[in-house]
Amino acid sequence: MTYQKKTIEDIDVSGKRVLVRCDFNVPQDDTGAITNDKRIVESLPTIRYLIDHGARVILCSHLGRPKGSVNPKYSLRPVAARLSELLEKPVAMAGDVIGPDAQAKAAALQNGDVCLLENVRFHAEEEKNDAAFAKALASLAEIYVNDAFGTSHRAHASTAGVADYLPAVCGYLIGKEIGVMGAALSDPKRPFVAVLGGAKVSDKIGVISNLLEKVDTLIIGGAMAYTFLTAQGASVGDSRIEADKLDYAREMVQKAADRGVRFLLPTDNVCADHFAADAAPVVHDSMSIPAGYMGLDIGPETIRTYSDAIRGAGTVVWNGPMGVFEFDTFAEGTRAIAQAIADSGAISIIGGGDSAAAVVQLGYADRMTHISTGGGASLEFLEGLVLPGIACLLDK
Ligand code: 3PG
Repeated sequence: MTYQKKTIEDIDVSGKRVLVRCDFNVPQDDTGAITNDKRIVESLPTIRYLIDHGARVILCSHLGRPKGSVNPKYSLRPVAARLSELLEKPVAMAGDVIGPDAQAKAAALQNGDVCLLENVRFHAEEEKNDAAFAKALASLAEIYVNDAFGTSHRAHASTAGVADYLPAVCGYLIGKEIGVMGAALSDPKRPFVAVLGGAKVSDKIGVISNLLEKVDTLIIGGAMAYTFLTAQGASVGDSRIEADKLDYAREMVQKAADRGVRFLLPTDNVCADHFAADAAPVVHDSMSIPAGYMGLDIGPETIRTYSDAIRGAGTVVWNGPMGVFEFDTFAEGTRAIAQAIADSGAISIIGGGDSAAAVVQLGYADRMTHISTGGGASLEFLEGLVLPGIACLLDK
């Protein structure tokens, strides 16, 4: 799916109240402290542009899944504080979303001022894309900007519904995300290698199928490899498999063969007799993992094969870790793939979610071309699906 959407540069924002949907759904620790502010940092170019052009900026976002009721645990206050530090200016925090405080804060803004509304998911109407709620939200502003790439796969009131009531354009983050990923999908520098991992085949069905139509090599790791291996006749011991996806796995292997795509599965795995950080690692051939053992990472031979395939790539798209990287003992496959991608010199695009977390945790973030801020959204983009939060914006 290619989008040609109007951006903040295509509309006069000076002196206007501009509602900006960001994805400030950031990870927090038990005390509520933000543990990774990437999504906030990535929203700054749009917010700064609006400030510099005299807009009156009304930010909104969700945080977590408060299920339609007010829950202080999911308040966006910590985000307002962090934003204010990053912008080096006050960010007025509204105590509600469309209520009297939001209305007062929005009305009080002068050119270049910024306020943040409370969590839009404190209202059940948000996820239902309720028209009255979307209209009330829209009534705070004169222009709508969507820059919440990470939530653009959701057709919610603040991501799509508001566009029915206001001129709607995209911000720089959405522009960057769809620009980089769109170019990789439509006109990739070849060879184009996709590395897909993670737990479940069912999460990646659309992505595998769509990428098989575009890539030269598809590399499979993570727990979903055991379903593919089983479909190829392997005994995978106690490894996790999805029995109802075996036919699909066979179909995909066939599709790869039909299209001349090199399809790589692990040939060895680091296994353990139970799932724990301190479980003793033992390497087994992927075709014959003994009963009582489960694969928790790709093995050394597989790392070599996969690294070789990545070395000559022109473009690499990576989504999903190769093993249980949260446990040091089983992180080597994911680390080695990150290293191979970093060393390849290829245009490297890392899907959000777990793979982005792995790249950051393992210290390779600076060496990637693009780390998406969207987990589910980047997957749906790579699947070729329409993202409602982008489709609703004005065409160029
Ligand atoms: C994400 O973290 O993927 C986005 O913020 C969307 O959150 P959601 O899955 O709760 O809709």
